[in-house]
Amino acid sequence: MDLIELSDVSFIYPDGTQALTDIDLSVRAGERVAVLGANGAGKSTLFQLFNGLLHPERGIVTVKGRVVEKAYLKEVRRMIGMVFQDPDDQLFSSTVRQEIAYGLLNLRLAGNQLEQTISGALQVVGLPGYENKSPFNLSGGEKKRVALASVLAMRPEVLVLDEPTAALDPLGAAKIIKLLNGINRELGITLVFATHDVDVVPLLAGRVYVMDKGEIKLSGPTAEVFARKDLIRAHNLRLPRVAHLAELLERDGQCRFPSFPLTIGQAKKALLERIAEKEAGTE
Ligand SMILES: Nc1ncnc2c1ncn2[C@@H]1O[C@H](COP(=O)(O)OP(=O)(O)OP(=O)(O)O)[C@@H](O)[C@H]1O
Ligand SMILES: [Mg+2]
Repeated sequence: MDLIELSDVSFIYPDGTQALTDIDLSVRAGERVAVLGANGAGKSTLFQLFNGLLHPERGIVTVKGRVVEKAYLKEVRRMIGMVFQDPDDQLFSSTVRQEIAYGLLNLRLAGNQLEQTISGALQVVGLPGYENKSPFNLSGGEKKRVALASVLAMRPEVLVLDEPTAALDPLGAAKIIKLLNGINRELGITLVFATHDVDVVPLLAGRVYVMDKGEIKLSGPTAEVFARKDLIRAHNLRLPRVAHLAELLERDGQCRFPSFPLTIGQAKKALLERIAEKEAGTE
């Protein structure tokens, strides 16, 4: 059974903006799924349908096979941890401790267990000792991490992250990618994230949905989606930088690739293979 499934879903904002049209999407347990799209493609709108913050105009949203409706919302929101694009939409407490404690108190955590869960979550996102700070005085990247810590502390089954690396510095983004992959691998938490950053996708997703103008235009395993480079470009996106470099090398006849590398690691492997072939005189 799919954890999250949308079938034939459309959504129109009250001002008449058609934000989503005929969306079919499914997320299976343990997957890492990217929703990739340019600004205004409909990613954030889509995510708000997952946990009933918005309701479809047409079509059906189910979580674990049950339609997301009022009587199911509490359970759905417990299963799906949502980290918003803008942390200011998420953070509301006067201290970081209270922010993270809020959901945990509802789970009846108290005393030492509560404090340890809070400090553990802050440790994981790289903000140890931030308990007494005000979330509103933090930098954009720090706010983002506090929002993630508060959701992670609840141990959701699915982590839905809207632009998890936007507003983070390069090292911070790399750490979050590593952290999220670790959470997926070691805790089995399913990941769904939205991004317009094509370089992040191969590092963090096994499967990709490409959105444009409220529609899903392309989907499939990450390597297959990026192999459709004309379609990627037609939808206001680009190839990951290393794939673009490989494309230029191939175009200029300098190097041939069976498939374009998408990450630095893949590029290094592919280039070393080409060098070895050249040295062995097989090319
Ligand atoms: N509250 C709203 N009322 C009316 N239109 C809205 C509202 N929120 C979003 N939209 C419109 O819906 C469309 C999709 O917006 P959405 O925020 O889902 O895009 P996105 O893919 O998340 O973009 P970004 O990458 O900039 O975050 C856009 O055309 C946007 O202008
Ligand atoms: Mg958005």
